[in-house]
Amino acid sequence: MKSIESEAYSIHFNEHCYEELDSYLEHSNFSKIFILVDSNTHNYCLPKFLSNISYFSEFEIIEMEAGELNKTIDTCTQVWHTLTELEADRKSLLINLGGGVVTDLGGFVASAFKRGISFINVPTSLLAMVDASVGGKTGVDLGSLKNQVGVINFSEMVLIDTSFLKTLSIDEMRSGMAEMLKHGLIKDANYWNRLDGLSHLKLSGLGALIHESIIIKNEVVTRDPNELGERKQLNFGHTIGHAIESYCLENKTKKTLLHGEAIAAGMVIEAYLSTKYCGLTNKELLKIKKVFTKMYGCVEFDTKDKKLIIELLKYDKKNSHGEVKYSLIESIGKCKVDMIVDNDVIFEAFDYYASKQ
Ligand code: GLY
Repeated sequence: MKSIESEAYSIHFNEHCYEELDSYLEHSNFSKIFILVDSNTHNYCLPKFLSNISYFSEFEIIEMEAGELNKTIDTCTQVWHTLTELEADRKSLLINLGGGVVTDLGGFVASAFKRGISFINVPTSLLAMVDASVGGKTGVDLGSLKNQVGVINFSEMVLIDTSFLKTLSIDEMRSGMAEMLKHGLIKDANYWNRLDGLSHLKLSGLGALIHESIIIKNEVVTRDPNELGERKQLNFGHTIGHAIESYCLENKTKKTLLHGEAIAAGMVIEAYLSTKYCGLTNKELLKIKKVFTKMYGCVEFDTKDKKLIIELLKYDKKNSHGEVKYSLIESIGKCKVDMIVDNDVIFEAFDYYASKQ
């Protein structure tokens, strides 16, 4: 698969990514190399990663606890202390080997440590490959509120080795697939149709679709790195989806959802809003609902849940001047940003999501 180059960073794939890393390290002059892993990637991904690298043999491993609940400023503080104890300096490099929690948190740790050290993302989950590790968004959660603290800062490179996906559960694969479907819904109807036709999540054939998804995301980020306009499109499904995810994370009676599961629900609900506010046809809405409910089922919410989820919308990062701003779709492949909707219509949209049609 062909490397993707942008002004700020490059993205390399499979065997090629290790050659690129070796060559990059050979031509850099890092004082020390640190590899941030979580308890899972330490066991399942680090041995493979190290066996492919020939340039460096001296490095330090820093391990954090796995899981969204550990994507906190406390974990960052622990990593900063460890870096300090291990005498990291401004010329150190941090390699983030893991899923979205590790790449988001590691990117933030590196961006703030001594006012910024270099970092490289090596995503090991499908979600991190097609979304989290690409585009420079770094950060942590604040309580149950997602990604409230962070900065946009680009990694030196992103290395995508799709063989790491063999270590993933089917639920994790589905979670990442939701972001790929989103890329089709906002930018490319053909791509969406091809994903819709994917009857299995086998790795054969998926590599090319991953590559295409990253191209779609990277083009948007290149045109609007700081999310002043077009990049907001990448938040389709996320206004409601993040509120659902935070609500389920906080609420002991609810099953914690993977990010992709929450935004799958968010995309069906926001597709309904799209029919009311920007002309998405009912035919397309029905198609979207079918695809997502077949793959992700339907999460149940009672009236109290819905009210509390709507309350959480006020914390969305796209809001300004007290208004909740949505990215909605006019048709499959075309997205419109900064849309304002009525809460009554959100209740209707939840009803549509739960309906059998
Ligand atoms: N995950 C959305 C973005 O990177 O802008």
